[in-house]
Amino acid sequence: GVVASDAMATIQLTDQYVEIHDGEMVQLTNTDFAIETVSGSVINRAPYKATVDAADLEKGMYPYYMLKEIDEQPAVLRRIVQQYQNSAGELEIPNELKQAVQAVDRIHIVACGTSYHAGWLGKHFLEKMAGIPTEVHIASEFSYNPPLITGNPLFVFISQSGETADSRQVLVKIKEWGYPTLTITNVQGSTLSREADHTLLLHAGPEIAVASTKAYTAQISVLAILAATLSEENDFALIHELGIVANAMDSIIAEKEQIAELAEAYLTDKRSAFYIGRGLDYYVSMEAALKLKEISYVQTEGFAAGELKHGTIALIEEGTPVIALITQAENASHTRGNIEEVRSRGAHTCVCVMEGLQQESDQLVLPAVHPMLTPLLAVVPTQLLAYYATLQRGFDVDKPRNLAKSVTVE
Ligand code: M6R
Repeated sequence: GVVASDAMATIQLTDQYVEIHDGEMVQLTNTDFAIETVSGSVINRAPYKATVDAADLEKGMYPYYMLKEIDEQPAVLRRIVQQYQNSAGELEIPNELKQAVQAVDRIHIVACGTSYHAGWLGKHFLEKMAGIPTEVHIASEFSYNPPLITGNPLFVFISQSGETADSRQVLVKIKEWGYPTLTITNVQGSTLSREADHTLLLHAGPEIAVASTKAYTAQISVLAILAATLSEENDFALIHELGIVANAMDSIIAEKEQIAELAEAYLTDKRSAFYIGRGLDYYVSMEAALKLKEISYVQTEGFAAGELKHGTIALIEEGTPVIALITQAENASHTRGNIEEVRSRGAHTCVCVMEGLQQESDQLVLPAVHPMLTPLLAVVPTQLLAYYATLQRGFDVDKPRNLAKSVTVE
């Protein structure tokens, strides 16, 4: 027997797992195990079978899992659409969950890291499409500053692994308080899924690289589907639009060499960098910065483009890389103004822009997709930039220092 805090850690050894609950002890020998509670009661719990396709666990031709997982994103997106489509070809979530969400007047999203960044897009979709006021919370901060709860809330936990301790401790508390809960996770049978009232799966296949990529785009897609199925005016053809995004992702991935060149031109020998954007592009900037810093160790901040001049612009020096994301027509000219501000202070600016909003001097033009779904696309070149910058520095892309795939301590 082996004890692990995440089933995925031992999936190459077995597919049979037995849960251990809080307040229980395990006695383990070479051939057997026994579970008891701290007060001495014997627990007999049946094992469950983890269903993971062995092919999903191989790197195949890829040098790193991260690159494989980036490349898988268009296929994951298409799979998610299939999984959430009913026989009439419409997007659907389980009826019980739909009724539960229709009864709430506020949603609280709780998550960490990349999943937290996806949560901001969830807020955008749930407010704009479903009209439900939504707040986003960092799980590890929740206890110190719990929201003022009124009316009928729903708590939504977003977690690729479903094992993150910071998120789980909030879930335990919310259950004690008696509020309904939904977990959005990639791992069926994970702790956060078992303990919540409802689960929506990401269907992204196992994510092995520490840097989360396909889980982020899967989280955004599932959040969009959740919001769309709650929307009363069904005027947003999400299935069709997600199909366009998947094709656009394919075309960015097919031209990844161009992004490798940008990584070399902008990030070689740099100690710090900035991503800037407004609105949805700001949310993606936060995620893009996390990706770059966690694997390449380039100190990177994701910043609201308009906020830079309120202090942080003091950090811009000759040659500081500033990567600007522009995907929204309504704020493009303002972000352009912020690019000029940093350029005039010496920044080496790189503009990643949606087709239709580009200028001749821009470095990367993304195919046009529905304005609400641009984050799904804009994040892909930023993942590739992080990947290539890390390769060029000679670090292990999949296993950055000081980090674990599942963070099972608070
Ligand atoms: O498994 P989770 O989604 O709950 O994990 C949350 C974070 O630890 C995770 O997203 C982390 O930020 C990633 N390493 C980022 O790439």
